[in-house]
Amino acid sequence: MSLPASLPQILFPSGEERSPLGLGTCGYGAEPADLAQEIGALRLALDMGWRVFDTAEMYAEGGAERVLGLALEQAFRAGLARDSVMVVSKVLPEHAFEASVVAACEQSLRRLKLDCIDLYLLHWPGPAPLAETVRGFEWLQRHGRIRHWGVSNFDLPQLRELASVPGGAACAANQVHHSLAARGVEFDLLPMQRVHQMPLLAYSPLDQGALADHPALRDIAIRHRATPAQVALAWLLRRPGVMALPKARSILHLRHNWGAQALALALTAQDLADLELRFPAPTHKLPLSVR
Ligand SMILES: NC(=O)c1ccc[n+]([C@@H]2O[C@H](COP(=O)([O-])OP(=O)(O)OC[C@H]3O[C@@H](n4cnc5c(N)ncnc54)[C@H](OP(=O)(O)O)[C@@H]3O)[C@@H](O)[C@H]2O)c1
Repeated sequence: MSLPASLPQILFPSGEERSPLGLGTCGYGAEPADLAQEIGALRLALDMGWRVFDTAEMYAEGGAERVLGLALEQAFRAGLARDSVMVVSKVLPEHAFEASVVAACEQSLRRLKLDCIDLYLLHWPGPAPLAETVRGFEWLQRHGRIRHWGVSNFDLPQLRELASVPGGAACAANQVHHSLAARGVEFDLLPMQRVHQMPLLAYSPLDQGALADHPALRDIAIRHRATPAQVALAWLLRRPGVMALPKARSILHLRHNWGAQALALALTAQDLADLELRFPAPTHKLPLSVR
């Protein structure tokens, strides 16, 4: 098994390349009393080098977008280049009709204190006809409110349906649950996304913290003086076309997760074989895992 010399970057259909590691923000912005600590954590993450941030209008009813917006505003004032950062946000399915998606996006932009969202996703398939959602996304793109659009929690049949509506082939990414413990997407969804050069954004890459304690990861972690969470992330970071989006509010976790990039390069063929044995790849189609 050959080992990479550097981590594969994520290539979007537009030709843009981004880091394979982004920060999830679900859980941020829920408690006003935590605001200063959370802004501090995000500023530190930016100082460490994190450049991709995943959020949604749903998280803390806009609270996560608000905290992210405040942290980014401070960082831009301090000299960070806007185009060095990729902000991903999501519209709720009930807001994904042609007119309501525009209104929802305007509100997200206000909370994020941005002129433009880099990647705007439909959070999951819902009541709005996909053709309408795409028309709304295209309007937002034409008017400079979003740069690219994509979807989340779409399995293969939904992606096929999307590809059949006018403009649907411009989908730039699909965000789904993917981790060592949730490998179902490898059976057909991930291969199809790779064929179409559509990055897979892996949410809950630590299985909402469960993998951070997983006994099957301890031996490998000890071999590398790392943590089980770092092993789980390192495994994902090596996969072409997959971006891992761990969420962390703790500064120690942010540092460990950033360090998983070095571990991804250090994992040996034996480590990978051990992981394969303990978390086998799917041999048949599984329902899409949804969190
Ligand atoms: N599109 C969707 O439908 C969807 C669904 C779910 C999630 N998401 C996105 O994906 C992001 C990540 O998913 P998630 O929040 O569900 O779960 P996750 O990233 O798998 O796990 C987050 C949990 O793991 C802990 N953690 C993080 N790093 C750790 C480390 N190094 N060691 C030990 N524990 C660690 C965090 O604690 P602390 O916070 O205390 O540091 C938190 O409790 C979300 O924030 C969101 O942006 C999208």
